[in-house]
Amino acid sequence: MRIGILGSGLMGGKLGTIFAAAGHEVIFSYARSNAKLKRLARDAKGEARPGTPRDAAEEADALLLAVHWSRIDDVLKQAGDLSGKVIVTCSLPMNARNTKLIVADTSSGAEALAKKVPKARIVSAFNTVPSEVLIGVYAARRRKATRPSLVYCGGDESGKTVAAELIHDVGFDPIDAGPLRSARYTEPFALLMAQLAYEGEGGPELAYRFERFGK
Ligand SMILES: NC(=O)c1ccc[n+]([C@@H]2O[C@H](COP(=O)([O-])OP(=O)(O)OC[C@H]3O[C@@H](n4cnc5c(N)ncnc54)[C@H](OP(=O)(O)O)[C@@H]3O)[C@@H](O)[C@H]2O)c1
Repeated sequence: MRIGILGSGLMGGKLGTIFAAAGHEVIFSYARSNAKLKRLARDAKGEARPGTPRDAAEEADALLLAVHWSRIDDVLKQAGDLSGKVIVTCSLPMNARNTKLIVADTSSGAEALAKKVPKARIVSAFNTVPSEVLIGVYAARRRKATRPSLVYCGGDESGKTVAAELIHDVGFDPIDAGPLRSARYTEPFALLMAQLAYEGEGGPELAYRFERFGK
């Protein structure tokens, strides 16, 4: 697939690098410096290049949205027409200080995003993973007998198929958590994961030692 990265920071930089290593064609976009986008593309092992959000939107089959909530409107504006595009979002609707969700209970960031781009196919995924574990999960994907689970949700079946493939490529076992409104539960869960990762005793490793129950 051709994958456009909207937001090439901790999440976008690592996931884009992994997608390229897994054989996808990646466009890194939306960082504060073009030099950073060029470096990410140069360092990726695989096919990757820097571009603008507009390039990513026009050329990619699927987009990863990985920006702070405060940057969503700006990056969407720069991307332009996203009709029909699969947008896999890991962006959490956090306040400026990253201390709490500003959309919750009766909605979710993923649903708020779907209202902003009603013609795009939104899937919520990857936000329950601390970025620090991604490279390790990718490196271990063939070595370990069981893969850690990763939940995703959305209302568009073809978009969810794309997301499940990407989740699998990174090294997780994709778990379909149902419609987009399930993000009302996965987004607060993502905060629990972050709490465990950054303030718990076991660090990011502990935060992702989830295996499938009942197997
Ligand atoms: N990090 C995690 O472990 C984690 C886990 C779960 C969910 N999330 C969610 O994922 C999303 C991204 O998180 P992150 O940790 O990857 O954030 P991040 O490292 O700050 O990355 C955000 C990206 O947006 C870019 N950006 C910010 N302001 C910009 C501007 N004015 N113009 C152009 N580009 C700009 C940043 O540029 P620079 O590269 O120049 O800084 C960076 O590439 C957030 O919604 C977060 O809640 C993160």
